[in-house]
Amino acid sequence: MSIRVIQWTTGHVGREAVKGILRHPELELVGCYAWSDSKIGQDVGTLCGLAPVGISASGDIDALLAIDADCVCYMPTFPDIDEVERILASGKNVVSSYFINARSWGNDVQSRLQKAAETGNVSLFGSGIFPGFANFVAAIMAQASYGFKKIRFLESVDLSHYEAFANYANLGWGQTPSDQWRDTSEQVLGTYSECIDVIASLLNVPVSGIRFEYEHATTPNDREFFGFPLPAGSIAGQKCRWIGSVGNNDVIELEVVWNAGKGLEPEWPVRHGYTMEIDGDPQIHTRVKFIPSESQMQGGRPADLANVVTAMPVINAIPAVCAAAAGIQTYADLPLIKPYYTPD
Ligand SMILES: NC(=O)c1ccc[n+]([C@@H]2O[C@H](COP(=O)([O-])OP(=O)(O)OC[C@H]3O[C@@H](n4cnc5c(N)ncnc54)[C@H](OP(=O)(O)O)[C@@H]3O)[C@@H](O)[C@H]2O)c1
Repeated sequence: MSIRVIQWTTGHVGREAVKGILRHPELELVGCYAWSDSKIGQDVGTLCGLAPVGISASGDIDALLAIDADCVCYMPTFPDIDEVERILASGKNVVSSYFINARSWGNDVQSRLQKAAETGNVSLFGSGIFPGFANFVAAIMAQASYGFKKIRFLESVDLSHYEAFANYANLGWGQTPSDQWRDTSEQVLGTYSECIDVIASLLNVPVSGIRFEYEHATTPNDREFFGFPLPAGSIAGQKCRWIGSVGNNDVIELEVVWNAGKGLEPEWPVRHGYTMEIDGDPQIHTRVKFIPSESQMQGGRPADLANVVTAMPVINAIPAVCAAAAGIQTYADLPLIKPYYTPD
């Protein structure tokens, strides 16, 4: 029997999630929530650039929660905690691209979500690429060493090809540099720090403290990406580091380096992907880089792959999440998630 899934919004990541649900042999799309009025009533296939699938997007949350569905794939720009609580309490599992364990949202929110999941006897799981799947890859690499002292993880990308560029507006991009953007980044990007909890749990690291470091880069000239203006002198890049330590030893280091094009001040090197290093016996180094497939090149939207690699770890996890015990689940709790062999 299929696992019945409702897609919650069809933005950049949500559109790829819909394609992933339709192609997944265990999943069936049974509904779709639209936040934008203009999308309500439209066929979900059409909204995702596909042929119609016979399911219309709806803005009626009560009607959607009344659908006999197993799981909601929750992908709005920001989560609405009341909404997630309602979905869970209605007995639907939730998978999301903006969730790890809610520790950074505070005890109150975390326990509300845990309680709602227990009430509905369902679970809540979040992934994506980072935060999410890439951290899991980094953690499991350590298996091949006698032991390890440190794990370093770096996401380094040029965002000038990223269609969801406006997602960086709330981090101060396009604004005059000021200390407030450090604090905003620490708060808005809190789910990144939660990945330290997951890695620590997977690798038995007794983390005693987590700290955050931030630097920004500015653009020397006016520039614009996907209609988003970055005036000369404004923030057009940032480096953030989350460090989990055990006493005085820094053990888990997660870093992002995001640039909007070349020629920023300072100009950090762009490594186009993920670099992971285990400082152990032996040392283990891995690079994960995503390359557009032939069909993505032919479709003329190679940059969409950033949304695919965000959506698919979430979609592939649905069977395991629906089978898991009630409550908040992470990669440290779920069994190994297996993708499907899908010949043409
Ligand atoms: N973990 C990762 O690796 C990773 C990577 C990238 C993104 N993300 C996260 O994934 C989520 C989706 O990203 P995205 O790029 O797809 O986002 P997006 O395209 O900007 O927005 C997703 C949808 O959110 C709805 N929306 C827009 N403004 C809203 C508002 N003010 N209140 C409520 N809903 C609103 C819209 O729904 P309609 O479709 O109905 O119009 C929109 O299509 C975000 O939370 C993002 O941070 C995670």
